[in-house]
Amino acid sequence: MDFSRSEALHSEASEVLVGGVSSGFRKNITPLQYFERADGPCYYDVDGNDFVEYTLAWGPLIVGSNHPEINAAVRAQLETSYTLGAQHKLEIELAQKMVGAVPGIDQVIFSNTGSEAVQATLRIARATTGRDKIVRFSGHYHGWFNNVLISMDENGNAAAMCGGQPEKEYEDTLVLPWNDLDALTRLLQSQGDEIACVITEPILVNSGSCMPQDGFLPGLIEVCREHGVLSIFDEVITGFRVALGGAREYFGLQPDLSVYAKAMAGGFTMSAVGGQRGIFDALRDGRTVHYGTYNGSSHNLAAAIATIDILSQPGTYERMHGHGNAIRERLEAKAHEHGHQLVTSGVGTAFSMHFDLEEPPLRHADTLAANKEKLAAFRRNMLENNVLTLPDGRWYVSAVHTDKELERTLAAIDASMAAI
Ligand SMILES: Cc1ncc(COP(=O)(O)O)c(C=O)c1O
Repeated sequence: MDFSRSEALHSEASEVLVGGVSSGFRKNITPLQYFERADGPCYYDVDGNDFVEYTLAWGPLIVGSNHPEINAAVRAQLETSYTLGAQHKLEIELAQKMVGAVPGIDQVIFSNTGSEAVQATLRIARATTGRDKIVRFSGHYHGWFNNVLISMDENGNAAAMCGGQPEKEYEDTLVLPWNDLDALTRLLQSQGDEIACVITEPILVNSGSCMPQDGFLPGLIEVCREHGVLSIFDEVITGFRVALGGAREYFGLQPDLSVYAKAMAGGFTMSAVGGQRGIFDALRDGRTVHYGTYNGSSHNLAAAIATIDILSQPGTYERMHGHGNAIRERLEAKAHEHGHQLVTSGVGTAFSMHFDLEEPPLRHADTLAANKEKLAAFRRNMLENNVLTLPDGRWYVSAVHTDKELERTLAAIDASMAAI
């Protein structure tokens, strides 16, 4: 497959755009493709190659690209306003839709990105509790700001992920291994009165789509409540993806706060925090603040409303999960047929594949033993067979992947497993 035009554009871009990319995550992907357009579940690159694609732009494109209903809603909105820096009726409509769709949420705030919305939850938790410390888990991603872009060193201490992160900006961040309720309970017993909140991805999609062990998430919420600590689900990935009501609906759980972004606006820039009315008292009474020039921009609100409407159609999630589960089954079956050890983990609409792991991973550390070279070879073969996937073995399924794409994808899996 020819990528020469992409390569030429990357060289040209690198002269004027730092690293030739707009997000550092994209820098090391090979080949570094330039895309001309996207339509439904397909991307078209500048070299004339077309792909059934399961990256969904790292999550947002839950109803694919060029969706007629989103296009119509955004076009109509553009005729009347872009962003107003003021109030708009669609704010009410989207808030009402979210409250209707997500269990246990009766108020929301709007931001633009997941990173910002996460920061809003941390600030609310600190203002509400009067405590400074926050707890997060190893291998989870909560955006790129200094207080959360933290890993765990070999002594179990928080460590910066990159340069330019002064220690004092994350000294109140404690990092624990995930899926270990005893470790969390011990920490809250010893330091609970200093801890404002515990934030978790409810499914650890960012590190191999690890599922929560039975009892872990309900136990987390309960032990937090015992210690007056707020529990936060970072649903930037799982929100509107694992079910219309996200992980709250999927697991039947109600933490204090939940964060939404990515899938909620189908590719437009929108994020939100949801919870019960009382949890936002600190914002209402002025103990803390939440700002943003672009918060509630009307074309983004229109896109989010249209996205939720499309996703609300009966049978949507069953179809998406079915599509993803069919891929998972084929991946595992074909791998074994060709003598490769492979497991998949996660749910139908968001899952990861792991060569050379015997069991689905339970936490970030378990994923480190996976065979990354084999994954890279498999991904490259899939690409050559016109199927685009994320470089870390993660797959996202959209509401517009049909049986036609499934057929192409299964054939590509057969060919790629045979080739590697
Ligand atoms: C779970 C989670 N939280 C937060 C973020 C940050 O969101 P954004 O990239 O919109 O700032 C991401 C992004 O991938 C994410 O996966």
